[in-house]
Amino acid sequence: MSKTKVGIVFGGRSVEHEVSLLSAKSVINNTDREIYDIYPIFIDKNGLWHRVNIDEWLKDGALKVCNNSFLTPSLNYQNPLFFEIEDSKVIDQIKLDAVFPVLHGTYGEDGTIQGMLELMGIPFVGASVLGSAIGMDKLVMKAVLNEASIPVVPYFGFYSHEWETQKDTIREIVLSKIGFPCFVKSADLGSSVGISRVVSDPGLNAAIDDSCRYSNRILVEKAVSKPREIEISVLGHENPIASLPGEILPHREFYDYTAKYLEEGTGLIAPAQINEKMTSKLRDLAIQTFKSLDCSGMARVDFLINSETEEFFVGEINTIPGFTQISMYPKLWDITGISFTELITKLFDLAIHRQNEKSKISTDIKERSE
Ligand SMILES: Nc1ncnc2c1ncn2[C@@H]1O[C@H](COP(=O)(O)OP(=O)(O)O)[C@@H](O)[C@H]1O
Ligand SMILES: [Mg+2]
Repeated sequence: MSKTKVGIVFGGRSVEHEVSLLSAKSVINNTDREIYDIYPIFIDKNGLWHRVNIDEWLKDGALKVCNNSFLTPSLNYQNPLFFEIEDSKVIDQIKLDAVFPVLHGTYGEDGTIQGMLELMGIPFVGASVLGSAIGMDKLVMKAVLNEASIPVVPYFGFYSHEWETQKDTIREIVLSKIGFPCFVKSADLGSSVGISRVVSDPGLNAAIDDSCRYSNRILVEKAVSKPREIEISVLGHENPIASLPGEILPHREFYDYTAKYLEEGTGLIAPAQINEKMTSKLRDLAIQTFKSLDCSGMARVDFLINSETEEFFVGEINTIPGFTQISMYPKLWDITGISFTELITKLFDLAIHRQNEKSKISTDIKERSE
């Protein structure tokens, strides 16, 4: 039987480029080679696409670019093709059966590459354009979750140009409705970039100025007191399932960029030590969150629990969670009974299933017979 040809796209033009390389390496290492032929597609920081030799990369750690390559959204060809080029000539064409975008953040997790794959009609792992775009924007995500009566931390959102012209009004709203301590965030970034914890007024303006450097969409939200950070993995399409919960124990004031990537010391506990009642509530809520945001395939839902009052909130959703060997998403499935390799197979199956379902949707208008 011929193997399924899968493209694994990684790197990308985002601050999370390096994390993507680590995630892609462990996805490739854990993909079942009996079932899949892997076509690794590396996007460099300038946005150029390359084919790479994975065996060398997996062996000695150096990422060597082979040829330039591209995928085309044009349907001139009967099937989605992946082209390799040398000296401006196409030297190889491969029909891909599915693609796994192992990209985090901007141009990867935000609906942009999903839009391209959607145009190509190629099955791909993870949320479609809508779910990806909502999941990437904390303001829209919270608005949708509010509408679905899913608890989110109280917040106030505004544009950076409004901050420039209406500072006093924005400050008044933040001081009266949000208070201190609070978190100031750029709405559409991940990895804790552009996020500050502010404990009193003198720090507010500087924190908002800092977030405005990274985005034009800003939010300020109440800080959850003595927070416990619980994460749950979700997998599926029409009937998604939720994993056992895990807990993050940051060794710093909060789970900031340094704690995530630069310093060791953060504890990852799986399963989280929380009671059965709370576990079951959060697992249900993770599935509701996944469905409300039009997710598909996979997502990690992160919760914040006030450890004094046990009040809980959905903090955020990651539609392409980390996939490194120590990342929570595969780890939580592993302790729930799905190995890394089985997980990847399920994700490709879900991608192909969704595409089949989608192809049944009519794009022609037909008059209904009375
Ligand atoms: N409202 C909040 N209360 C307490 N801690 C928070 C709050 N919002 C964010 N944090 C802390 O900041 C971290 C990053 O925030 P998050 O919204 O998850 O952004 P990112 O998408 O960058 O991961 C969280 O993991 C948590 O440690
Ligand atoms: Mg987070």
